[in-house]
Amino acid sequence: MVSMDTLVSLCKRRGFVFQSSEIYGGTGSCWDYGPLGVELKNKIKQAWWRDFVQRRADMVGLDASILMHSMVWKASGHVDHFTDPMVDCRECRHRFRADQLDEVPWVHYCPATKGNKFTIPAAEACSHCGGRRTLCPDCGKGELTAPRQFNLMFKTFMGPVEEDAAVTYLRPETAQGIFVNFENVQQSMRRKLPFGIGQIGKAFRNEITPGNFIFRTREFEQMEIEYFVNPHDTVDGRPADEHWHDRWIADCLAWFQRYGLAAENLRLHEHDRAELAHYSKRTADLQYRFPIGWSELMGIANRTDFDLKQHAKWSGKALTYFDEERKEHVVPYVIEPSAGVDRALLAFLADAYREEEVRGEKRVVLRFHPELAPISVAVLPLLKKRGDIVRTALTIRDELSRRFTTVYDDTAAIGRLYRRQDEVGTAYCVTVDVQTVGDTDKGEAADGKVTIRDRDSMEQIRVTASQLGGVVGDLLGGQRWAEVAAEVGRA
Ligand code: GAP
Repeated sequence: MVSMDTLVSLCKRRGFVFQSSEIYGGTGSCWDYGPLGVELKNKIKQAWWRDFVQRRADMVGLDASILMHSMVWKASGHVDHFTDPMVDCRECRHRFRADQLDEVPWVHYCPATKGNKFTIPAAEACSHCGGRRTLCPDCGKGELTAPRQFNLMFKTFMGPVEEDAAVTYLRPETAQGIFVNFENVQQSMRRKLPFGIGQIGKAFRNEITPGNFIFRTREFEQMEIEYFVNPHDTVDGRPADEHWHDRWIADCLAWFQRYGLAAENLRLHEHDRAELAHYSKRTADLQYRFPIGWSELMGIANRTDFDLKQHAKWSGKALTYFDEERKEHVVPYVIEPSAGVDRALLAFLADAYREEEVRGEKRVVLRFHPELAPISVAVLPLLKKRGDIVRTALTIRDELSRRFTTVYDDTAAIGRLYRRQDEVGTAYCVTVDVQTVGDTDKGEAADGKVTIRDRDSMEQIRVTASQLGGVVGDLLGGQRWAEVAAEVGRA
């Protein structure tokens, strides 16, 4: 498995992710997506939206505002319950989550070795004195304060006056925007249960200990679905909410595998009673084997009727659904698949990373699923000095860029250009050479064909310029390279 340091360095060097406000020393908790990062992120979001919202007859979309009425957060329980226990070091003043103290390595001045300093792996005892961590894990000297509850929501003021009545919060999850629009969507779209609402957007949490690159940040994006189910229905003899919960777990797992995550790097983690959120009947996390170890990629919760009932209570509006068959009003149960865009991006990056040896040379390649590759096609002229080759390549780039993320590059020799594109995961390279345009001096006619190179197999095929768009479209649409190569013939 690739290390986090290798990924962070690649991301910075090749324009995927930069530290936020870097010229001012940076912030450890926010990251900026560079030119390739934003393409990768957009493609993940597009694939999710298309597969889970547009292609499903039982789903619709929403884009709710980030700032909401402050009562939303009272009703949802976030004002009172969205807290983490926090402790401070009395010496170095560093702050930690009390429940995560044993998840980090700790500094120890060992009494059995005349006070020598050691850094001991997380949760382990000192091999010299057998002691366990009681002091600050960072400085190894300071006593820790007793835990205090710390609310993770960012507080702000709506309007020009900073008074209590104007207090509101940056949303810590996109979910609540969906719950408060349940009736609007259900009525305007004439939806029958079961149906779901999907939303992608920013969320903000004042995490006590952000870190591990884009894994835990204070500003991040979520892709969330609230799937509304009639709690009185049954499917195959089981309560409908339980049936749909299992279906969504299976669908989410299949989605991540479809876009490239290896099955052995994914697993389910069922929350036990102590772990369950106050609103949840059952929650299963989809965990990924990140460079930092197995950690949550997304959660799929059965939120029951908690949120709709809470909003009905606090707003005074009945958020119910009229069941025509039973002639009764019901409060739907909600299944919530909730994924982090940034964590998904980190997982796709880590899983795609390979170091290979090609003809005695090291090649770094990001083997992204072709649909997720930040650059779909790179158009490369074999000879930069030949005006007709460059003109043809630029025309092809222009043509392809109408449909695909396409770049043109002539800043190095072809071998190096291929390596550069491999390192950022470009799915296909298209090369324009002398044969394409012909050579009048030598009396060689143009064949009008270009070479397409497949990133993963490094195989090449030659197609006419007029075939090119169709062939690239087929490849990005899911057709296998081997099938396309068999049809048009290898170069
Ligand atoms: N609406 C439910 C909800 O927000 P969550 O488990 O707190 O549930 C869902 O968050 C997903 O959002 C997580 O599985 C993770 O992918 C992402 N996420 C949560 N906090 C994050 C953070 N501080 N930084 C990056 N992603 C985060």
